[in-house]
Amino acid sequence: MSENIQIRLKNRPENAPVAQDFEVFHGQIPVAGAGEVLCRSLYLSLDPYMRGQISGRHISGAIHPGDTMRGETISEIVTSDHPDFKMGDVVMHQGGWQVYSLAEAAELTLVDHRIEPVSLALGIMGMPGLTAYAGMLYLAELKAGDRLVVSAASGAVGSMVGQIARILGCEVIGIAGTDEKCRWLVEEAGFSHCINYKKHDLRGRIEKYCPEGIDVYFDNVGGETLEVVMGQLALGARVVLCGLMAQYNTDVVPAGPNPATIIRARATVRGLVVYDHFDKKQEFLNKVLPWVEQGLIKYREDVTEGLENAPDAFVRLMTGKNFGKTIIKI
Ligand SMILES: NC(=O)c1ccc[n+]([C@@H]2O[C@H](COP(=O)([O-])OP(=O)(O)OC[C@H]3O[C@@H](n4cnc5c(N)ncnc54)[C@H](OP(=O)(O)O)[C@@H]3O)[C@@H](O)[C@H]2O)c1
Repeated sequence: MSENIQIRLKNRPENAPVAQDFEVFHGQIPVAGAGEVLCRSLYLSLDPYMRGQISGRHISGAIHPGDTMRGETISEIVTSDHPDFKMGDVVMHQGGWQVYSLAEAAELTLVDHRIEPVSLALGIMGMPGLTAYAGMLYLAELKAGDRLVVSAASGAVGSMVGQIARILGCEVIGIAGTDEKCRWLVEEAGFSHCINYKKHDLRGRIEKYCPEGIDVYFDNVGGETLEVVMGQLALGARVVLCGLMAQYNTDVVPAGPNPATIIRARATVRGLVVYDHFDKKQEFLNKVLPWVEQGLIKYREDVTEGLENAPDAFVRLMTGKNFGKTIIKI
């Protein structure tokens, strides 16, 4: 490829993003300066937090109209003026929604050679997997025999939450938006049950599958799902609040859960920010990679070919039409 391609934000969407909110730019490949490394992206991770960045609401900072979209990439080094990296090395960094990017050596990490296929380093063995691991091992105070419910269950975070809990001896109930997602979670990922909240009565199914209450709820959604699940917490329940899919696409905050449900259940509610747990990355890889290698953990990737198709893939992610970790193959 003899030119760079970038995807830039054109407009801040008010509701669910559409592909027209983004623009494709063709330009020159950047030239590396002293000490810099030129990278060519192989895979780009698309994540829900990007919706918060383009609204200026995310803790990592805002993306403004005209800016190139940010994002984590797996990249191959094209040229390097730094002794720690050489041409052909495969690294992870914040390459953004573009084919070529420049980086300082301090911003690059080599991809752990045990991760195969390499794209998993953006999904279940990357930031989303670490989110699930930290939530389960450090926040949920998980015990064998616990009954755990997880929403957005088929994604990289949700599927890892449920499978880690299952491996540690818990009964796992997923909540997902299609029959296909639910079938995969039960038949492949080993969940005990999965509720298609778009088709079935969520409250009725939760009561049926958790008659003695929910010990751990890992929430990726907020809104009505959170409210319904909170109504069935067991005594001493723990709730990990991780994501807000139900409200990322709107400025209007939906009605929240009734705090009385937390009080009645003497529950502990924990907020999760994965940035606080980056020091556990090696521990996570050492513990969880063998589970992946042994086939104890299943995964789904939702791979789209071509950077120009990133806006469409992001729209699918933000409207629940993805199934598995959203990746752009460049
Ligand atoms: N706290 C942290 O540090 C941290 C770190 C990483 C990720 N997260 C959060 O973890 C959650 C899952 O992330 P992921 O990367 O694994 O994404 P994902 O689950 O692959 O994709 C998001 C899923 O959310 C579901 N969803 C539920 N309600 C929705 C709604 N109202 N609109 C659109 N989608 C809805 C959709 O699946 P259904 O068909 O099942 O509805 C969609 O596929 C997100 O909320 C993300 O922000 C938090």
